[in-house]
Amino acid sequence: MKPNHFIDLTDWSPQDLLEMLDLAVFLKKEWKSGGNRPVLKGKVLGMIFQKPSLRTRVSFEVGMKHLGGDALYLSPAEIGLGQRESIADVARVMAGYVQGIMARVFAHEHVVELARWSSVPVINGLSDYNHPCQALADMLTIYEHFGRLKGLKLAFIGDGNNVATSLLMASAMLGLNYSIASPPGYELAQETLAKAAPLAKASQITVETHEDPVAAVADADIIYTDTWTSMGQEAEAAVRRQKFQRYQVNDELLSRAGRGAVVMHCLPAHRGEEITDSVADGPQSLLFPQAENRMHAQKALLVTLMA
Ligand code: CP
Ligand code: NVA
Repeated sequence: MKPNHFIDLTDWSPQDLLEMLDLAVFLKKEWKSGGNRPVLKGKVLGMIFQKPSLRTRVSFEVGMKHLGGDALYLSPAEIGLGQRESIADVARVMAGYVQGIMARVFAHEHVVELARWSSVPVINGLSDYNHPCQALADMLTIYEHFGRLKGLKLAFIGDGNNVATSLLMASAMLGLNYSIASPPGYELAQETLAKAAPLAKASQITVETHEDPVAAVADADIIYTDTWTSMGQEAEAAVRRQKFQRYQVNDELLSRAGRGAVVMHCLPAHRGEEITDSVADGPQSLLFPQAENRMHAQKALLVTLMA
């Protein structure tokens, strides 16, 4: 049986994720050829945000409307998740009004707690631990570009953060070799690597961790980066800017990757920091198809959980 919530990719099977990607391809084609059927008619997605958002908010809201449903945006100033009211109470009240909940939180346990108490599906729209919607959409983008997932190599340059974590899990489950280069002190958590290890073994992929970005991108098909300072870490920005100096995705680093390599970034980008304009806007950039695919992939997720 498929899970009721989308909190962590690893709660699902590789087969479930592949089915969702197939559905995303179908829904994208359907949308581009005149519109989606209203399979979520009368359904509302409640969206709780503890942090800012462009892509997550707009792609979920517009995606729901395309499918005949609606979405409700609750800003960080509202609800006061766990502060004005307990998470358990918020989950049970919301479940009386909406047919699905999407939440972007600080502490990962908060979205887990919402799911524990909610009788309607809960979707993790980013936590400090992971960003599964991003990785699902990114697999769609990679599949569209290369026509396959298995056997490719994804190299993540930068912080071993939420995005790097979900990309590791997606790679390990769907058969992409994964390498990461991070400055000392900013590596992926040991528990995260340990969690991915059996999945990587089952898919027969390699997981490499490096300090040197050039070593990480050798033979890479995809170079992926993210901000050096994630939401909630703003006080560390100056220190991080200094420590991540070597971890910029620029033309020189791109020239060290495999031939035909593409560049990805979940966005928002800090141009001139983790990525240069010439790479972000260059011929190998997938940044904007990638952002668009958030909507197509999440439609598949919404239909899977809510239809
Ligand atoms: N990539 C992503 O999640 O973007 P937002 O923070 O704008 O939602
Ligand atoms: N790592 C970033 C991702 C933003 C989509 C953050 O958490 O702010």
